[in-house]
Amino acid sequence: MALPIRVVPATPNRLAAFPSWFPTPESLAQWGGSGLRFPLDAAQIAAMLAETLTEPPLRLAFAGLIGDETVAHAQLALDWTDGVARLARFAIAPCCRGQGLAKPFLAEVFARLDEAGDFPRLELNVYTFNAPAIALYEALGFRCEGIRRSSVKVGDARWDTAIYAIIREG
Ligand SMILES: CC(C)(COP(=O)(O)OP(=O)(O)OC[C@H]1O[C@@H](n2cnc3c(N)ncnc32)[C@H](O)[C@@H]1OP(=O)(O)O)[C@@H](O)C(=O)NCCC(=O)NCCS
Repeated sequence: MALPIRVVPATPNRLAAFPSWFPTPESLAQWGGSGLRFPLDAAQIAAMLAETLTEPPLRLAFAGLIGDETVAHAQLALDWTDGVARLARFAIAPCCRGQGLAKPFLAEVFARLDEAGDFPRLELNVYTFNAPAIALYEALGFRCEGIRRSSVKVGDARWDTAIYAIIREG
């Protein structure tokens, strides 16, 4: 069966509509952490993608396309020394959520990770209120390793960060 979305490297052009996915400071921080400035702009996107151009790459970044439209994005931050990859900045476009795109998109992203190198540990951070994302990660086999309480400040709020990981070999 053909994949519903085509997974390609992320480029500035493919992420041009991306800032509209995050219309509030909270939605931007939920996706990308508190280090980003709202609104997301081309300069911040370029800075993220610059890490994909190092040798070896510090980051892989992917766009999921339906036709020519970008409907999914994910990044993998790579620790080559210890073989640890961190899934980061993953989102499905607001128009396309709830349609079952997340799992096939991530399966392809993880296949690309295997092509890039040996990363037995795959980890991620997710805010504890993010129930859709947590349900997805648990369905994929990620396990919660702990919670960094009150670890992020967004406006006047403080958020708890859950650390999830999956060990991908024997
Ligand atoms: C998390 C996110 C990527 C899920 O994308 P999606 O397109 O809604 O997901 P799908 O329709 O493919 O569903 C995949 C799984 O996610 C979970 N899920 C999705 N929406 C859910 C909801 N509203 N409530 C509970 N679980 C949900 C389910 O486990 C679902 O699997 P199932 O349908 O077999 O039960 C999407 O909500 C998103 O982009 N959120 C904003 C950005 C973000 O928070 N990213 C994560 C940062 S850690």
